[in-house]
Amino acid sequence: MPAVSARAQPTDDVAEVLLTADEIAAKVLELGARIAADYQSRDLVLVSVLKGALPFLADLMRATPIPLALDFLEVSSYGEGTETSGVVRILKDLAHPIEGRHVLVVEDILDTGHTLSYVFDHLRAQRPASLRLCVLLDKPARRVIPIEIDYRGFEIPDKFVVGYGLDYAERYRNLPFVGVLKPEVYARSS
Ligand code: PRP
Repeated sequence: MPAVSARAQPTDDVAEVLLTADEIAAKVLELGARIAADYQSRDLVLVSVLKGALPFLADLMRATPIPLALDFLEVSSYGEGTETSGVVRILKDLAHPIEGRHVLVVEDILDTGHTLSYVFDHLRAQRPASLRLCVLLDKPARRVIPIEIDYRGFEIPDKFVVGYGLDYAERYRNLPFVGVLKPEVYARSS
């Protein structure tokens, strides 16, 4: 087996680091403190949308020092490419009822809004006591459907970003920072 160091690393495909791991960590602490203050003594369920939100959820819940529960939805709106298809599918539904509970949706990125619009309609139909949104990255230039953000991490420019959960063709999710992918990477595989 070739030595790992001799092989191309995911970081080789990144043109620019947009948010460092330290910047993300500081923002997550700030968001967690706000959420803890707002949801003290409430029956809080963090509903995370897999898979991209995983690292954000894992860090955010540890920065939120109040009792809370977790549940997961898996939806897909992107194929293998860099553009959203606008078609949202539920791949995995919630495991537990949310009626009468305070639901905070935790997402990695809000882009066109197709995914979260669909997710919010789906969750609202189950009559939670409240339904709010925490999103790490907001890319407003691409918005098609308006969505209200209750807790926003960062506003980012209209560039294709990967890392800290975000993928391109299922790769780069494990980068500890958010970076801009070199255009030749997706040109190569299209
Ligand atoms: C990404 C991201 C959001 C969605 C945002 O998910 O996690 O759910 O796209 O885009 P939109 O605002 O244009 O709908 P993706 O479908 O790539 O799945 P993943 O979380 O498994 O990466």
